[in-house]
Amino acid sequence: MTGFTLKNGILHADNVSLIDIAREYGTPSYVYSASVIRGQYNALKDAMAKALPADRQPLLCYACKANTNIAILKLLQTLGSGLEIVSEGELRKGLTAGFTGEQIISTSIGKVGPEIKACLEAEIHQLNIESVPELYHVNDVAGEMGKKAKVVFRLNPNVHAGGHHKISTGRKRDKFGLSARRIMEIYKIADDLDHVEPVGLSMHIGSQVSKVEAFKPAFEILSSMVQELRAEGHSVDRLDIGGGFPIRYQDEKLMDLTEYANWVRDIVLPLDTEIQMEPGRYMVGNSGVLLSENIYTKQTGERDFLVLDAGMNDLIRPTLYEAYHNITPVTHFDRPQHDYDVVGPICESGDTFGESRTLPEVHDGDLIAIHSAGAYGFSMASNYNSRPLPPEIMVDGDKVSIIRQRQGFSDIMKGENIPDWLK
Ligand SMILES: Cc1ncc(COP(=O)(O)O)c(C=O)c1O
Repeated sequence: MTGFTLKNGILHADNVSLIDIAREYGTPSYVYSASVIRGQYNALKDAMAKALPADRQPLLCYACKANTNIAILKLLQTLGSGLEIVSEGELRKGLTAGFTGEQIISTSIGKVGPEIKACLEAEIHQLNIESVPELYHVNDVAGEMGKKAKVVFRLNPNVHAGGHHKISTGRKRDKFGLSARRIMEIYKIADDLDHVEPVGLSMHIGSQVSKVEAFKPAFEILSSMVQELRAEGHSVDRLDIGGGFPIRYQDEKLMDLTEYANWVRDIVLPLDTEIQMEPGRYMVGNSGVLLSENIYTKQTGERDFLVLDAGMNDLIRPTLYEAYHNITPVTHFDRPQHDYDVVGPICESGDTFGESRTLPEVHDGDLIAIHSAGAYGFSMASNYNSRPLPPEIMVDGDKVSIIRQRQGFSDIMKGENIPDWLK
């Protein structure tokens, strides 16, 4: 079995009981199923393979901001994925996991000097540029290194998409990308610089884009931009068409990958460029749960709360994006149903994972799984309230491995010191 399913009334990750995992590694813990990640990668690869000719397959670059655990990067690297990075830290993790520079693209909006230098040293595939000053900066650093950087420019197509206003990135008011007019200007500027080579365009309209129809107008705008640039004599050899594919948190309709792939075939393929994609959440989101223990069932007289040992520092999506995550027990599914607000132990009212959730009665000490937590879960976790980061565990069929140790208290104090004048 793959993914998270019930066996003998107990929630399992692949073939491994979450009770056994909690016993071995404690709670809260992130638990991932490698087979789910494999399945997602292969489904996207297959959809593109069916729609596009063999010699025009896209470079699928996993947007690792979703989950940067090195074991997950390694899994995707062995499947043949490329990598999209947004920082020097992500670059170093990707190289450690075995990605070659040629498989990596950098898309951060505010690249700093050392990051640009590290990208050029690693000879990454391209740097995606978001502004004129950034272009000059890349040109300067490449010049100092005696290199020529391949760059693409991010177009803002002014399309409204994305599951929440904080993860919508392609509207003209957003900080991302450049308008069509600015793209024409930046291409001209780049042509006069000695250490950058403009090779194409990129686009990413948002995350958890639930309506597949949103991609079509964005592709059409990209296509007309390519034609305009070519008419001015510029070369456009690469198109990075972004990520943003949705996953199921509740009962969302999943994106029709075939429809998406057919639009790539009909609109992007005829432009005769290399095609790149940057999916993050889609690859890993449904592969993970945050496994937690209900410390106390608390009745205030007004409402009934489950107070978990996981908090918003472990999974911030519900409070940051008002995101819905399905919450279930790990066992005792046959108990009578009861309504609870499911919260963490942190001193913030926003430390809430779900309100008015109907669950089989939960007792103190019972295990709880917060589902679809594989993307933007651990990677956004923090030490808020001086809480050590939870461990990450990967399951693959019958195999279980800890892929990141739980932090200890010495870890969270590392690097801090009391000045002599306060002693
Ligand atoms: C430039 C870029 N590419 C790709 C992604 C990945 O998005 P998603 O995880 O929704 O696929 C993001 C997300 O923020 C992004 O900013």
